[in-house]
Amino acid sequence: MFRFDELALPIIQAPMAGGVSTPALVAAVANAGAIGSFGFAYSTPEKIDADLRQAKSLTKGVVNANFFVFEPLDAPEPAQQQQAIDALKKLPVSIESAYTAIEPPFYPSLEQQLEPVWAHRPAILTFHFGLVEASIIEQAHALGIAVGITATNLEQAQAIENSNADFIVAQGIEAGGHRGTFAADPPEDAALSAIELTALLRAHCHIPTVTAGGIMDGADINRALEAGAHAAQLGTAFVCCDESGATQAHKTLMLEQPQRGSVLTKGFSGRWARGIRNEFIDLMQNEPTLPFPVQNTLTGPLRQWAARANNGEYQSLWAGSAYARARAMPAAALLAKLAQELHQAQQ
Ligand SMILES: Cc1cc2nc3c(=O)[nH]c(=O)nc-3n(C[C@H](O)[C@H](O)[C@H](O)COP(=O)(O)O)c2cc1C
Repeated sequence: MFRFDELALPIIQAPMAGGVSTPALVAAVANAGAIGSFGFAYSTPEKIDADLRQAKSLTKGVVNANFFVFEPLDAPEPAQQQQAIDALKKLPVSIESAYTAIEPPFYPSLEQQLEPVWAHRPAILTFHFGLVEASIIEQAHALGIAVGITATNLEQAQAIENSNADFIVAQGIEAGGHRGTFAADPPEDAALSAIELTALLRAHCHIPTVTAGGIMDGADINRALEAGAHAAQLGTAFVCCDESGATQAHKTLMLEQPQRGSVLTKGFSGRWARGIRNEFIDLMQNEPTLPFPVQNTLTGPLRQWAARANNGEYQSLWAGSAYARARAMPAAALLAKLAQELHQAQQ
């Protein structure tokens, strides 16, 4: 079974669903002695099978397959769906295709998504948004696969530890993408920074912790290790890599518009997620949305239209609060730089 001390570099390239974490990116990272992660949350079993197969042909390194744990969901009332559709129709863009009511199934079957994982046996399997059934962790362990789950506070971390998972991804409030709280709308969110959360888990938990959120260079990685992490998980830092599947607008705004800043929004998916501030986020701030992931399906045609039109104002440009320090280069070059900076910080 995978152990963190076998890594040449204590770095996980974060899973990034929606096409950012391509097989080429995952393999380049794994070949450099770090962990390459797939974000398979929205992927079909066929796509998962093809991507894992391709990664296997490109690397013998450590690969992670990541999934969302979707909460069971009833169909939103037709009137509620209509309100959310009307909010999108008010936006000052004409996207050609119509917004339509969303029919079940609202999310993919995790059981079916995991079939190719059991067949290909990547070294690591991680989950975002909550715990999984004990049988999934048992099956992973029987096949020699280590399991990690995201926590945003100590209570979630302790539940992860009790679920027999192997490590915790401590996600700070700085993190780009979806906030991995267990409940979609937690009544209280302490909004801990990645380093605060890592130190807290170090004091109270026994299984390894990985720090995620706002980590952009080797000095940041060193701070996470000093706080007690076994590794650092970096998402935003990899978005502008040559092998990343992020859209051109995503990369351009990240590199050229540091002044926009990043904000949390529910507008795109129905769950809180951090991205570069754009017109959609501003206009949707007080508008009704549907629960995750129905809102995500509903905004799909808008996001696809914006990607085709290279219009960054209507795409989800997921990015952490430190995105202004993102660097554009091949993944191997970025990892070499991170290694060199980490080494320097450790002197
Ligand atoms: C574009 C993007 C997509 C993401 N998608 C996922 C995902 O599919 N699964 C997941 O567990 N985390 C996802 N995340 C969150 C990362 O796992 C991680 O918490 C975050 O990237 C760390 O903060 P940073 O972006 O400041 O490095 C995503 C992050 C970004 C930037």
